[in-house]
Amino acid sequence: MKTVVLHGSPRRNGNSDTLVDHFLKGLNAGGENEVRHFYTNDMSIRPCQGCLSCETSPNHSCAIEDDMQEIYSAYVDADLIVWATPMYWGYMTAQLKTVLDRMEALAWRGFEDKTFAVFLTYRHHVESTVGFFKRIAPHFGIRLHIVTCRTMEDGKDVPVTSFPAKLEEAYELGENLGASERDT
Ligand SMILES: Cc1cc2nc3c(=O)[nH]c(=O)nc-3n(C[C@H](O)[C@H](O)[C@H](O)COP(=O)(O)O)c2cc1C
Repeated sequence: MKTVVLHGSPRRNGNSDTLVDHFLKGLNAGGENEVRHFYTNDMSIRPCQGCLSCETSPNHSCAIEDDMQEIYSAYVDADLIVWATPMYWGYMTAQLKTVLDRMEALAWRGFEDKTFAVFLTYRHHVESTVGFFKRIAPHFGIRLHIVTCRTMEDGKDVPVTSFPAKLEEAYELGENLGASERDT
């Protein structure tokens, strides 16, 4: 299964990355999958300029030539898209939101009919981002799976590794998706 991982956190190997790590171990348990990682914090991706050329151009391509072009082609090619992000001020990080806005070009052609595995870590609230994915999934025919983990206890930040049940949930989701792909 071709997989694209969109890492939204600026913290490499932080909480959301750790959940994805366990997910990928599960995914690859029954055989290696092709996985491409995009660390959005390290990429040069301009915000969408709202020029609408993706709406009007014959092949619905984005006019901005930057690192997003790599994500476009990997996304279209992939079966499984992994979204990993902490909550920052009530939503996904700006890095990932910038990528999402630029996906307007894919919304015209190529965004749909994927499996999404979404990993969200947070202190207090996660509903806005969960709600967003739930709202768009039926519209785009997306098979949606979400794992959330609250990384705060007694008013203090704690690492996601303090919650083995969540790591297991991520692993099992990967294992199940990997197995279901092999069965088809
Ligand atoms: C700038 C900043 C803003 C944050 N805003 C929120 C927020 O609005 N809601 C929330 O629940 N957690 C918020 N958090 C906490 C992170 O989402 C949480 O610590 C997360 O587990 C970090 O994941 P990471 O290690 O993958 O970066 C914020 C953290 C930072 C650094």
